Amino acid sequence: MREALDLWQQEAVQELTSAQSEQEVTQIRIKYLGRKGLITGALREIGSLPPAERRRFGQKANQIKAFIEKAIADRLEELRQVKVAQELEAAWVDVTLPGRRPLFGRKHPLTQVLDEVVTIFIRLGFSVAEGPEIELDYYNFEALNIPKDHPARDMQDTFYLSDEVVLRTHTSPVQVRVMEQQSPPVRIIAPGKVYRCDADITHTPMFHQVEGLVVDEGISFADLKGVLELFVTQFFGPETRMRFRPSYFPFTEPSAEVDIQCVICQGKGCALCHSGWLEILGAGMVDPAVYSFVNYDPERFTGFAFGMGIERLTMLKYGIDNIRLFFENDLRFLRQF
Ligand code: DAH
Repeated sequence: MREALDLWQQEAVQELTSAQSEQEVTQIRIKYLGRKGLITGALREIGSLPPAERRRFGQKANQIKAFIEKAIADRLEELRQVKVAQELEAAWVDVTLPGRRPLFGRKHPLTQVLDEVVTIFIRLGFSVAEGPEIELDYYNFEALNIPKDHPARDMQDTFYLSDEVVLRTHTSPVQVRVMEQQSPPVRIIAPGKVYRCDADITHTPMFHQVEGLVVDEGISFADLKGVLELFVTQFFGPETRMRFRPSYFPFTEPSAEVDIQCVICQGKGCALCHSGWLEILGAGMVDPAVYSFVNYDPERFTGFAFGMGIERLTMLKYGIDNIRLFFENDLRFLRQF
């Protein structure tokens, strides 16, 4: 009997060492210490031993029982630690890795420039007006003093939707729509998309313009010059030189084009400007013929108008040589703004 106890102790230790799970340990506990377990059985047999041996055998059996209980508790703790270690390994995080920066979106360069232009004119007391991109021939041409057979229509490669409906080729029709709706004083700018059937490195079929219109009593060409000079120096910088060059538009008289000194060569003459000057906008005093379409009294009111291309302004300001970059949405380009 005593030898059997020693043997069970050894076997229990071996079995526990190779046990790999809580369930296996539980089986071992049942085998030795359960109600019908080997050690439990041995303790129950004590009564059948000769009285002289009972005490020593009982002590021995209880020692071994305690030993196995401890071995079980130790093994369970080991297994628990192995499990924790495995879980930690699986959820391993390298806290020394550099963080991932979230990419911030930002405004498209054209939107930035458009916002800047609008802000400058709002500070000068202008308000923003809008008109439709699908426009009647009447507003895009007729009421701007460009009748059907006028040669100026050739200059604008118009997308016709029907005989009377076009995609607007400029923002000037907004002038007429505003004047139809309100009487002087008028002081508005009209930003928006315009369309022309044209495509190369400086033209796209859709681009953006900002129109300006001021009508009141006593408005003169000097007011036009003052406003545009303020705009140019705010937008391109205080040192920027500019000039007015006589030109022709059917809806203004007299008409002018405004040039700024070349931003690349500072007026010396280069591949971009040739002459040292770069055209940035068209302008003039509103032609009295336009007033007749909106029932303004040309004896009482005078005004000026101007129109400029946002893509062109942006290209000149940032030295961009290909207009298509604005519409390809290549992030390497867009992130520079
Ligand atoms: N609408 C003209 C264009 O698209 C630009 C322009 C010229 C607008 C003279 C004006 C102006 O308001 O007065 O080419």
